[in-house]
Amino acid sequence: MSLTKYLPEGLPEYESRILEAALTMAGDAGRVHLEYFRKKNIIQTTKLNDSDVVTIADKEAETSILAYINEHFPTHGIISEEAGRNHEDREYRWVIDPLDGTTNFAAGLPVFSVSIAFEVNREAIAGVVFAPYLDECFYAVRGCGAWLNGNPIHCSGQRELSKAVTATGVPYDRNDNPDNNLQEISRIALRVRAIRRMGSAAIDLCYTAAGFLDAYWELNLNRWDVAAGQLIAREAGAVIDSIRDGRNHSILASNPHLRSEMLQMLLGNNG
Ligand code: IPD
Ligand code: CA
Ligand code: CA
Repeated sequence: MSLTKYLPEGLPEYESRILEAALTMAGDAGRVHLEYFRKKNIIQTTKLNDSDVVTIADKEAETSILAYINEHFPTHGIISEEAGRNHEDREYRWVIDPLDGTTNFAAGLPVFSVSIAFEVNREAIAGVVFAPYLDECFYAVRGCGAWLNGNPIHCSGQRELSKAVTATGVPYDRNDNPDNNLQEISRIALRVRAIRRMGSAAIDLCYTAAGFLDAYWELNLNRWDVAAGQLIAREAGAVIDSIRDGRNHSILASNPHLRSEMLQMLLGNNG
């Protein structure tokens, strides 16, 4: 599946080259995902606990992405979930989640993606999130906009909290850390139309970007979960806030109208 057909015209030359590379890598990773999706015996190991699994598709998708970067951008740094960090202090670096939504993937549920961001001095300038089973490719370039499969996207205009469709997640360390989002979920569930648990942080951010979700929050994410999706959400007009100090990436992504009410509920001021 080639995604480079989606490359927008008129981008600055450097950004265009970077986005084209990211689209190529995402298409290749998506092909790996589909090769193993709903096949037997794909779980290879667990990480933090039984909830945190790694499949052969995580590894093979990552191998294919890293091989491309090493061939085409050998001086760039890499932060990638399964392989770890390599020269992460480089001015130019790629931030990669080769398979976001592994729990869904391993169970046979179709919400999973690959997430690839390119950062200059730690700021994302291009990002791609591709959900191959859903055939949804989201991407953005800083200052140039965000797209889904060739069409520009924008966050929702919903102003009423009681009509808001939101999403969240429950962190992998929920048994060890009492700051596990369960209180926030029970508080917010009474105020919004719905809370969804999609199972891929990258897709949650992109669905907020496209206005399919009105807001999304989650605690304790990693850089690779959010690097591309945050850029896509911002470029689509959503606002990103950090909702915890010292709890890795803990974020609220929201349309600008619901931001303040969501923040108040998340910070416990409006229970
Ligand atoms: C996970 C997914 C999930 C989120 C977790 C992430 P992984 O990523 O994005 O939705 O709740 O916090 O770690 O492990 O499937 O790459
Ligand atoms: Ca992830
Ligand atoms: Ca992953």
